[in-house]
Formats: sequence, structure tokens, C-alpha cells
Amino acid sequence: MSDDTTIQSVLSEDRVFDPPADFAQRSGGAWIESIEQYCELHAQSIADPEAFWGAVAEELHWFKHWEKVVEWQCPDARWFTGGKINACHNCVDRHVDNGFGDQPAIIWEGEPVGDEGPEIRTLTYADMQREVSRFANALKAQGVGRGDVVTLYMGMVPELAIAVLACARIGAPHSVIFGGFSAQSIVDRVEDASSKVVITCDGAWRRGSVVPLKANVDEALTITDVVEQVIVVKRCENDVTMQEGRDHWWHDVTASVEDECPCEEMDSEDMLFLLYTSGSTGKPKGIVHTTGGYLVHTFLTSRYTFNLRHHQDHVYWCTADVGWITGHSYIIYGIMQNGIPSLMYEGAPNHPGPDRFWDICQRHSVTHFYTAPTAIRAFMKWGEEHPRRHDLSKLQVLGTVGEPINPEAWMWYHRVIGHERCPIVDTWWQTETGGHMITPMPAATPTVPGSCTLPFLGIDTAVVDETGEEQPADTGGMLVVRKPWPSMLRGIHGDRQRFIDTYFSAVDGMYFAGDSARRDASGNFWIMGRMDDVINVSGHRLGTMEVESALVSHDAVVEAAVVGMPHEIKGTGIAAFCTLSGDWKPDDALIDTLRAHVAAEIGAIAKPDMIRFTDALPKTRSGKIMRRLLRDVAAGREAAGDMTTLEDFSVLAKLRSDED
Ligand code: WT7
Repeated sequence: MSDDTTIQSVLSEDRVFDPPADFAQRSGGAWIESIEQYCELHAQSIADPEAFWGAVAEELHWFKHWEKVVEWQCPDARWFTGGKINACHNCVDRHVDNGFGDQPAIIWEGEPVGDEGPEIRTLTYADMQREVSRFANALKAQGVGRGDVVTLYMGMVPELAIAVLACARIGAPHSVIFGGFSAQSIVDRVEDASSKVVITCDGAWRRGSVVPLKANVDEALTITDVVEQVIVVKRCENDVTMQEGRDHWWHDVTASVEDECPCEEMDSEDMLFLLYTSGSTGKPKGIVHTTGGYLVHTFLTSRYTFNLRHHQDHVYWCTADVGWITGHSYIIYGIMQNGIPSLMYEGAPNHPGPDRFWDICQRHSVTHFYTAPTAIRAFMKWGEEHPRRHDLSKLQVLGTVGEPINPEAWMWYHRVIGHERCPIVDTWWQTETGGHMITPMPAATPTVPGSCTLPFLGIDTAVVDETGEEQPADTGGMLVVRKPWPSMLRGIHGDRQRFIDTYFSAVDGMYFAGDSARRDASGNFWIMGRMDDVINVSGHRLGTMEVESALVSHDAVVEAAVVGMPHEIKGTGIAAFCTLSGDWKPDDALIDTLRAHVAAEIGAIAKPDMIRFTDALPKTRSGKIMRRLLRDVAAGREAAGDMTTLEDFSVLAKLRSDED
């Protein structure tokens, strides 16, 4: 066999779930009603993207109509050129102007549960218009103007959504930093963005304790002097030091401002936000998103992927943090443009107990729920008695995002949370894509556990080789996007060359996502994992995530991480780190059992060379397994590089000490 022999169709998955027959009826209708309709619309949208996206854009509010839908000169896309638009206007003012000012926009629930239950705040569109305008005026009073990057380092409080929209309102790009990041991460990001203003909170509630956000900002500002002003929301009442002249309380700066603030008329291609994300090197890259195209794409994907419909008592809940792209696009911009109440929850899924999410779903009658596979696996581990105790009958659509969902987690989600009546939309996309790229349409697309199925309308994804040639069915290759799409990144802030090298160099004229994937005979996409996580074992390409999926399909394994390790004969061997469910013993017999199990699921080639049992896997604060660290552990090397994102250093320390 040649070196690049590809492992074909490794996991046999033949369960197909048609959309539930009563779905449209339970949801008050469906935007895309059948797979035939999807196919027809998709073909049309690819044949004539200008007509397709232009018609969507007509639904938004523009101060000035665009002249050209798209101008594309690889790698540079410009959408709705000549158009003038404001993101905040489309998320807030438009609904007030249309007479929906009294409808809920943000439903917020705090983490602490007192005697009277948790704190809940509901902000209507009219409330949002007033609060956003007031804070926008406060920002202006601090000297913030069009084009000034404002950094947000906050917990999940309504003020975070208010601050995001206030920035959009006055044309100041926001740069949100996840509240779990360190002081050094703040330094790197404010310096890269030359951001002079930081909005933060005294603290954030997380699993019953206070994360000292303001103290982290203080520490960052001892390292950098880029930042001139800090605005602080009082949330936890923890002790903070306020530096005279530099630090201001949110409630002070908003005390004596006007309730009204006009929306800036932004150019379609003006930057809406920067969002930093890790790449293959240590330095995070600032992904640039602009205004018109991003709004159009997040508006339509929110509507179609979740089947969001006005006046159907929808309550939509995305459990992500606004610090990630998922929170930007599918807590704020996409959902609010659709005028649907967006639930924001402040804290942890297991505080005060492991049923917190299901308690929230029941009390708020959540109809649309969007979370990550890593969370689903945690719920599985905690036991199905917790969701079973709550009424989840209002749920209509379940979403998943962030990593490939292993079929076992998919089935559990379908059975235990969805009661077998909710379609699961497995949405593949990235910080760079801004919005959904591959996803089922809930009333139309037959779903298969583990596959994100088919491209969204107007999206031309493909699995290709280095020459751009499409791969045959069930053959792995590079996942690319062949045509521009409205919410695509416009660059990496301050690094043109890295933008070109990372995304537009692997295959001529196409966006390379960094993922490997395959399509099955039905055309469904299967994400195999990041290219850098694909390992080459004896000349065979294997998706580490597929091996993981096989491992967790065994009863004993709750979660697994697979990485390559140096191997004398094979070049790369397979190392697997597994957490076990309660009653299994981490012994040699289980190692043999699991190796045989993987061999049976995928093939002998995928048998792990080493299996290590561990209490927990090292993860980033966003829940991604830190494979680089595991590779180092597997190879017996010291872990190197940026570790500021480690959720729990002790996990790594433990893995290390087990080696002795
Ligand atoms: C990478 C992007 C998109 C918001 C959250 C992550 C992986 C994402 C899926 C999915 C398989 C997925 C890919 C992608 N990924 N969604 N549904 N199935 N893999 O955003 O941090 O920019 O990460 O996450 O590997 O490239 P991100």
C-alpha cells in the first residue's frame, strides 16, 4: 500500500433518523420542509449566489442599499458593497420600530440559587434599546469613537450583551475575551488590537465561587500600558481596587447619560468585531469579521438551522459563552436579528446540582437548545436520572457544535433529552466562518449520528485533495469551501501573510478549513478532525476522533483522547487516554478488551499502542481536549508552549506523575 492510503469508512453507522413527522406542526411551521426543497434551493443558491444572498439581505434594515452583492478576488471577499447598515439596529431597534418593543429579547438567569430561587432578569427589546443606548453614550463620553477597538472581559451577565451591542451601535469593533482566560491573554490581545478601553466585571460566578475578573485586568495592566480606561460592572460585590482616573463603575458612567443614541451608519465592510482564536502556533490570531455579510449569514442560519419562527412562544438557549464565536453569532447577533428571546445563563451546568440545565429548560420552557458534545458526555456521566426528573416536553430542536459528536453521545442526546421527537442539528463551522456551514435542516434533512450532514444553503463545501480534486465517497481529504460566503473572515488582524498561509495556501483558490473530512455515499459530511490531529500510522491516515468515538462506544469509557506518539516501526503509534465510568477497573484486562473493541469497530490498524487511564482529561477552558499536551505526555516530553488556557493544571501534573 502506498503512503497515503486512506482508511475508508471506518465506523459503520447505518442508523438514519428522518425528521419527526409532526415536527412542523409542533413548531408552528417549517422554513425548509423537505429534503427535496433543500436540494433544489441549495442548487439554486450555488448557481446564483448573488440572487440568493441578495434576497436574504433584503429582509434586513439598510440605511443605504448595497450596489453589489459580492466581489471576490481570492482571498478577499467584499459583500454588499456600498451598503450602509448597523448591526445593533437590526438586532434591537428594528423590532421596536415594528411594534415588538415589549417582547423579551434577553432572558438572563444568574448562577447562585437563593431561598427564592435564582435571580432572573428579562430585558425586552425596548429595554435593550434604552440600556444599549445609555451605555453607548457612556462609551462616547469616555472618548470611544468609530473604529476604536473595545475589549470586553466579562462574565455572562446582561451587561455583556448590552456592551457588545453598544459597541456595534457606535461603530467601535468589540474584542471579547473569554472570562476564563488569564491576565497574560488579556495583555496579548489588547496589545495586538491596540485597544485602549476594557469593560469588565468585579467578578463572575462560576460553580459557587467568584472568578476575580477585575483583579485579572489589574494584573494585565501592570504588564501593558496600552489600556487607558476600564469600566467595571458590579456583579459579585467582591473586593476590587479602583484606580483613580483609570477605572470607572458601569453604574456611575451610565448614571447621567441620555437614553437615546443614534446608530452609526456603517459601511457593509466595516469591522464589526475581532475575535481571537488559537492557531497551530502559540500566538492567538485576531479573526476579523465585518458587518453586512456577517449579519445576513447569521440571520439566515439562525432562522433555518433552528427553524426559528415569530410568535410561536420560542425560547432559544445556547449554552456557550459570549466569549466564543458561538455566543457572538448564536446568542446575540443571529438570534436577536430574528426577534427570538435568547436565554443567557451565567454559570456552570452542575451548580448547585447536575440537573441545573434541565431545571432551566423546564422553568423557562426552552424550545431550542444548543450545546457542545463535551457537555453531553458530562451529562451522560452524571446519569440520566437528572434530566429525567424534569419536564423537557417543550423542546423542539437540539443543536450541537464544537467538535465531532460521537454516535453514542448523539443517541443519548436524542433519547434522553429529545425524547426521540427532536431533530438534532450537528452544526459544523468555525470562528473563521462566522456562522453555520454544514448542518441539517431540522424539518428536512435525515440525520445520521456523528455526521453534520449537508452544506447550508449558499455554501459550497467539498472534500478535496491537494490539487482541489474532489475525493470519492468515503475517502478522507481536506475540507474546503470553494465559494465565498457572507460571514467569512476578512483577515487576521495585522497579519496578512498568516491569513493567506493558513487558509488559502493548501489548495489553490479555495478556503481550507484545517479539518479533514469525508463524504459518505449519501453526500453526508463526516468531520474526521483537525488536520494536525490526523495521524499517519504505518502510512495509513486515521482520524484521532474516530478512534475516540470507537473507544467511547464501549461501556467502560466515558471520554477518550487519542494522539499520535513516536513509534519505531509504524512512524506514528496511537496513544489513548481514557476516563472510565464508575464501576470499571483500570487494569490490563480492560486494556486488552478496549484494543480488541477498537479493532472490531474500525480495524486492527486503529488499535491503540498505549492506553492510559486517567481521572480527567486536560482541557482548555472552552472544553477542548489539549491534544498537544497529551502528545507530550505520550512521548514522555515536557509539555511546552502556551498553557494559559489549561482548565486545570493539576490534571496535567497527575498525568505526568503517573509516568514515574
Ligand atoms: C473547529 C472550529 C464553531 C464554533 C465552535 C468551535 C471543530 C466545530 C464541529 C462539528 C465536528 C466541529 C472543527 C472546526 N468543529 N463544529 N459540528 N463537528 N467538528 O469554533 O473554536 O473556531 O473551532 O471545531 O474542527 O475546525 P472554533
